[in-house]
Amino acid sequence: MIEQPLPPGGPGARMTGVSGARSRVWRYVGVGLPLLGLLVPVLLVAVRRPAVSQPIEFNHLKHTKDLQLDCQFCHEYVTSGAHSGLPAADKCGICHQVPQGESAEAARVTELLTRGDPLQFNKLFRLADHVFYTHSRHVGIAKLECERCHGGIATTERPPKRPLVTITMDYCISCHRETGQSVDCVTCHR
Ligand code: HEC
Ligand code: HEC
Ligand code: HEC
Ligand code: HEC
Ligand code: HEC
Repeated sequence: MIEQPLPPGGPGARMTGVSGARSRVWRYVGVGLPLLGLLVPVLLVAVRRPAVSQPIEFNHLKHTKDLQLDCQFCHEYVTSGAHSGLPAADKCGICHQVPQGESAEAARVTELLTRGDPLQFNKLFRLADHVFYTHSRHVGIAKLECERCHGGIATTERPPKRPLVTITMDYCISCHRETGQSVDCVTCHR
């Protein structure tokens, strides 16, 4: 920020020492606050959707279609919890403790497991903190298909960097209207 000279003979002109410095500080605060007000939303938009990276190039298609594993095998809490949960080393280790298949990436899984790597996968779909959502209601009770909200993730051959679909408020509300569920603001914002 560029320092503005005080106007000659203006209100701040006679001030010296500590009180002069203090008045200058307040002037900065006066300019700084509105600027900050502009910057924060801009920054928030910019950092909102960073690309998500994963420790392993996981292949959903291979595990769901070829190996016929259930979603719930890895996403344990999808019918019972708010969050479905992501698998970790212990799950993968059930099979990959010993080498599986021919691919280099599968060999890397076994190598990482042997080294004691926790294989921490990172969340991809994420709602703002002000939204209340639970899988137990939508999957456990309403028996909705995963694709309705997650698109084709089950047939991906490597982890997507960004959600395949954006889950918007309009999408939640339109289904709530169709199915006769509450559309009160406080149902989803608590
Ligand atoms: C009605 C929409 C909807 C359906 C149906 C749905 N999900 Fe989700 N899922 C979401 C939303 C929204 C999030 C993000 C939640 C958050 O950030 O709080 C999410 C997040 C996830 C996550 C990340 C971990 C977590 O729970 O936050 C996994 C894994 C997941 N879902 C798996 C599944 C699977 C498997 C199914 C089907 C058995 C499924 N979901 C069905 C909406 C849905
Ligand atoms: C029920 C056993 C089983 C579990 C559990 C399992 N896998 Fe696999 N996985 C396999 C088999 C078998 C193959 C080899 C399939 C082939 O090459 O046709 C494989 C292949 C792979 C590959 C190579 C895919 C490719 O593109 O060739 C990766 C990467 C992988 N698994 C990662 C994981 C991770 C990460 C986990 C834990 C989240 C996991 N697997 C859990 C059995 C399993
Ligand atoms: C063998 C374990 C395994 C199985 C089975 C599995 N997943 Fe996953 N899932 C993962 C892993 C590992 C990730 C994180 C890496 C990635 O995105 O590929 C993940 C990520 C996801 C996400 C994104 C979660 C987030 O962080 O927002 C969704 C949604 C999802 N899986 C849905 C499904 C559905 C639907 C099925 C069943 C058709 C399924 N998964 C079966 C291991 C599995
Ligand atoms: C495809 C349809 C569908 C979509 C999309 C959907 N919902 Fe729902 N939602 C339902 C149904 C059906 C129920 C009632 C489940 C039951 O019987 O408990 C429900 C129930 C709820 C409840 C509990 C309501 C209560 O009265 O306590 C909340 C909260 C909720 N949904 C939030 C969300 C949010 C947030 C989203 C978007 C991220 C969303 N829903 C997307 C169909 C949907
Ligand atoms: C069925 C669930 C649901 C209902 C009902 C609902 N919202 Fe939302 N709302 C959401 C979701 C999901 C988001 C998006 C959050 C995100 O982007 O992560 C959202 C976002 C918002 C935002 C943030 C701005 C934005 O676009 O991200 C505001 C403000 C908001 N809602 C206000 C309201 C008001 C006011 C009502 C009542 C008239 C309402 N919501 C009803 C689910 C709901």
